[in-house]
Amino acid sequence: MGIPVVLDCDPGHDDAIAIMLAAADPALDLLGITTVAGNQTLEKTTLNARRVCTVAGIKDVPIAAGCARPLIRPLRVAQDVHGESGLDGPAFGEPAVDVTGEHAVELMHRLLAERPVTLVPTGPLTNIALLLTRYPEDAARITEIVLMGGSTGRGNTTPYAEFNIHVDPEAAAIVFASGVPVTLCGLNVTHQALVTPDVVARLEGLGTELGRVCAELMTFFGATYRDLFGFTSPPLHDPVAVARVIDPALVSCVEAHVAIETLGEHTSGATVVDFDGRLGMPPNARVAVGLDAPAFFDHVIEAVRVLSTVD
Ligand code: BDR
Ligand code: CA
Repeated sequence: MGIPVVLDCDPGHDDAIAIMLAAADPALDLLGITTVAGNQTLEKTTLNARRVCTVAGIKDVPIAAGCARPLIRPLRVAQDVHGESGLDGPAFGEPAVDVTGEHAVELMHRLLAERPVTLVPTGPLTNIALLLTRYPEDAARITEIVLMGGSTGRGNTTPYAEFNIHVDPEAAAIVFASGVPVTLCGLNVTHQALVTPDVVARLEGLGTELGRVCAELMTFFGATYRDLFGFTSPPLHDPVAVARVIDPALVSCVEAHVAIETLGEHTSGATVVDFDGRLGMPPNARVAVGLDAPAFFDHVIEAVRVLSTVD
């Protein structure tokens, strides 16, 4: 069996590919998909998780909806990046898979009671912070939290804050103070995971419905990244965190202390990575600093190929 993981996500174009990678890669055993408000409202991100599972033939993984807003702040969504649905681009039919009906935190708690689990958050950290607050004893049963968020440098939502951390910095602060091993996959590495025309051609070249849907998702994502950020190809952020769990060699890390800025007038949501130990604090995270992009995309394409052959 693979490594037991729960993917906590806010689909989202890159979350959609993260779901497929987590479900299909043989290194992982995807026990659950939990949703959170972020890229869009909880209602939309949950519908999108169901849509992705339907189109990818993922039928046996429980989906549970979680928090509809950050711990204390109003929700900010990324409609400019992901569109009105949160997953604009391809047309989706009625989803054929439903949610379990339990809260995301209860699903994670139930799964953790059975075995240690690695949590892979790819949206705001609200659900994870709520789990750690409601069930502090679960911290010892979480193997690791490997998240997409933050940056060792500049942000993408404000000059110093990345979207997932910016939406709920208080939740991020709880996660980084929890004592659970945390790995931070930030923009400094995810901006190396660029979906070039060659990658889109490989998705189309699979000759399958799922490959076509993924290519359409990436084409929409590419257009918003070009218009908003001036990127020539869009970065496939969230699957990088999944890849780190699949094979740590894909995403190299160094240990450092990471502080979450919650008070800054202009820097709220910044991840302050103390590479040089200037704050005198012991490391509380592994911080991603390098990506084997060719091998990463081989895993992504293979996952879409494998799922394409599932009825
Ligand atoms: C993160 O924000 C979201 O828009 C993406 O899904 C990703 O998780 C990148 O900053
Ligand atoms: Ca996301």
